Amino acid sequence: MGGITGPDLVAAVSNAGGLGILPVWGLDIATLTQHMRETRALSARPFGVNLNLAFPQEDRLRACLEEGPAVVSFFWALSEPMIALARDAGAVVMQTVSTAAEAKAAAAAGTDIVVAQGWEAGGHVRGSVATMALVPAVVDAVDIPVFAAGGIVDARGVAAVLALGASAAWIGTRFLLCAEATIHPLYRQALLTASEADTVHTTLFDIGWPDAPHRVLHGESYVSWEAAGRPPAGKRPREGEIVATSASRGPIERYRATTPIADVVGNVAALPMWAGQGVGAIRDIHPAAEIVRDIAAGLAVIRDSTAVKS
Ligand SMILES: Cc1cc2nc3c(=O)[nH]c(=O)nc-3n(C[C@H](O)[C@H](O)[C@H](O)COP(=O)(O)O)c2cc1C
Repeated sequence: MGGITGPDLVAAVSNAGGLGILPVWGLDIATLTQHMRETRALSARPFGVNLNLAFPQEDRLRACLEEGPAVVSFFWALSEPMIALARDAGAVVMQTVSTAAEAKAAAAAGTDIVVAQGWEAGGHVRGSVATMALVPAVVDAVDIPVFAAGGIVDARGVAAVLALGASAAWIGTRFLLCAEATIHPLYRQALLTASEADTVHTTLFDIGWPDAPHRVLHGESYVSWEAAGRPPAGKRPREGEIVATSASRGPIERYRATTPIADVVGNVAALPMWAGQGVGAIRDIHPAAEIVRDIAAGLAVIRDSTAVKS
């Protein structure tokens, strides 16, 4: 989760037995290398890097591979040459997909693992199939491991996707509410009080990344746009207005796809507060390692309670 997931969070997840994923697709090469080295210094366990192929990433991929990541995760588009580059450098390649057809194409292109992202997911969401229907369809379509993403926030969700045939769960929104996530306190508070019905799947926050559906909290900008009759870009309420500023990102106009991270000052509620539908089940903040351990402990309980006793 770009801007939110730094080396400490990634290392904490990997150290606790998960697989931390470092988003590097918006970083300059020097910062990317620094983040990978910091993660490596904090954890001897495997971690991954994530690249969003909606934007050119070849230079970043090459820089990542210099650092020898265990895993390279690609999002949004499929690139056979990028997959080959990562695999030739010894990385395990994951590709996020949103249909069984995309999963087949990813497997044919050489991906080692597909991440099936259901539309419950927070952040940018390509597809419109829910996790419950998507995971078995993808599991049946490919003979490589399938990780399930979208709406999973606790052990019950992980158990459910394992029952659907997934090999692992890939979790975002739950970690927005971990101690290490660098999100704005108002964004955090909004997540803590949101219900499962408080998100929308939209293309509204399109400045900087157009034509890319996403799931966010039903916040101020969405409400006023809806009240105005959902006008197209160019005719939306208060378009061009600077709603906030950020020390790291400068002025932020309404409808820009900028995450309300900790250094944002201004109308945080007008920015895209990315969240998946699972948000309604998260009512507390814990260190990332505790979240991973709680999920593992909860899974053991579910396994024991459902095991056939001989
Ligand atoms: C705030 C936020 C930022 C995200 N950023 C990325 C990203 O940079 N790259 C990516 O592959 N997926 C990104 N995602 C999507 C996640 O990888 C994942 O598919 C999703 O969070 C799973 O659904 P969940 O949020 O219900 O757990 C992001 C999700 C959120 C909530």
